[in-house]
Amino acid sequence: MAKQTRLTFARCGITDPLSLADYEAHGGLAGLRRALGMKSEELVDEVKTSGLRGRGGAGFPTGIKWDTVRLAKADQKYIVCNADEGDSGTFADRMIMEGDPFTLIEGMIIAGLATGATKGYIYSRSEYPQANTIMRAAIAAAQKAGILGAKVLGTGPAFDMELRVGAGAYVCGEETSLLNSLEGKRGVVRAKPPLPALEGFMGRPTVVNNVLSLATVPVIFEKGAQFYADFGLGRSKGTMPIQIAGNVKYGGLFETAFGMPLGTLVNEIGGGTASGRPVKAVQVGGPLGAYLAPAKFDTPFGYEEFDGNEALIGHAGVVVFDETADMLGMARFAMEFCAVESCGKCTPCRIGAVRGVETIDRIARGDASAIPLLTDLCETMKDGSLCALGGFTPYPVMSALKQFPEDFATTAKEAAE
Ligand SMILES: Cc1cc2nc3c(=O)[nH]c(=O)nc-3n(C[C@H](O)[C@H](O)[C@H](O)COP(=O)(O)O)c2cc1C
Ligand code: SF4
Repeated sequence: MAKQTRLTFARCGITDPLSLADYEAHGGLAGLRRALGMKSEELVDEVKTSGLRGRGGAGFPTGIKWDTVRLAKADQKYIVCNADEGDSGTFADRMIMEGDPFTLIEGMIIAGLATGATKGYIYSRSEYPQANTIMRAAIAAAQKAGILGAKVLGTGPAFDMELRVGAGAYVCGEETSLLNSLEGKRGVVRAKPPLPALEGFMGRPTVVNNVLSLATVPVIFEKGAQFYADFGLGRSKGTMPIQIAGNVKYGGLFETAFGMPLGTLVNEIGGGTASGRPVKAVQVGGPLGAYLAPAKFDTPFGYEEFDGNEALIGHAGVVVFDETADMLGMARFAMEFCAVESCGKCTPCRIGAVRGVETIDRIARGDASAIPLLTDLCETMKDGSLCALGGFTPYPVMSALKQFPEDFATTAKEAAE
């Protein structure tokens, strides 16, 4: 744990989460005070220079998203924080909300100053009761202290916010589905365009950012964009709070600069498997992330580096499996998860995932001729799905098939016998 570089999580575990005095004594509000003296364009440029990219999954540059909202003309703009955190093995958003809630509030206010938004929403999940209680108390304390309200810190423009709680659908973490849910509608994905940055919450320009993206903004303004950008690797700037889970000796959150090889994270930081058996695979990036065999453990933790290996870092959840894992079963689980969580709007996902489960079952029964069919189906889902739920489910399926063909062949052979 001593090897960490804590920028986003600098205060977590050190300060009393609900003490504003503690928060300020440890650098809190310094970023906001600096931001209040800057023009909106300068604020956006600072975020662009920092290289901060969306920590929710897609890795889209935060400054560019903010600029689109800043330049949009509207009577009302919004900042929406995505705290739905549905990815398997992830808990960093929860830890920020429970351990340092004011940093998220501060980040959302700075986003408001940069874009002209005066109202913010945190969309959290009912499975996080502790985080929701603390977050609500922190918002109330910030309102009482005049940090939030008609004049931010007594001198700035208006910014206020509230917490809303979702009802537990994975797809409600997808930003357009989230916006529908926030508006009180069914959580169905919206077609893009229009981008939420132009027509988001209630049809108004809206920044949708993950908790970690927004909670990292204060340290960028406190220490300067270049300070942040000096950490990391290539276009993956700064640090990432990596969450190590599954069959691993030392699970938990480890914040470090981008670039650490995956194998170091799993074997040195995580200490290998809890079972003591050899690692067979790790799934990085939640249920839509690829499985990576130890042969890929020299891959540095970075957006482009993972992309080059047909994988994604997503929200940086690393789930470890030992040699007893059945990769055909894991591929089936990915398809089944997609079938259960699909919003039902587009055919490749709604029907494809159900057919995917059936096709994998055929392979398990010994019908090897269904393997090309599964590959074909995955191509269709990848190219034809409206959002990444259907579009990325092929990643765990195809990575399991490509890297562990023996699990598919053995199962087929055993069944045939
Ligand atoms: C099925 C699905 C689930 C998602 N779940 C989450 C989530 O739980 N939290 C999150 O921040 N982003 C999630 N995303 C990504 C969001 O759509 C969006 O890209 C993100 O909130 C943007 O914020 P960022 O730029 O700060 O990453 C999900 C995407 C998909 C397709
Ligand atoms: S891919 Fe799935 S979840 Fe996404 S829009 Fe289509 S049906 Fe809905």
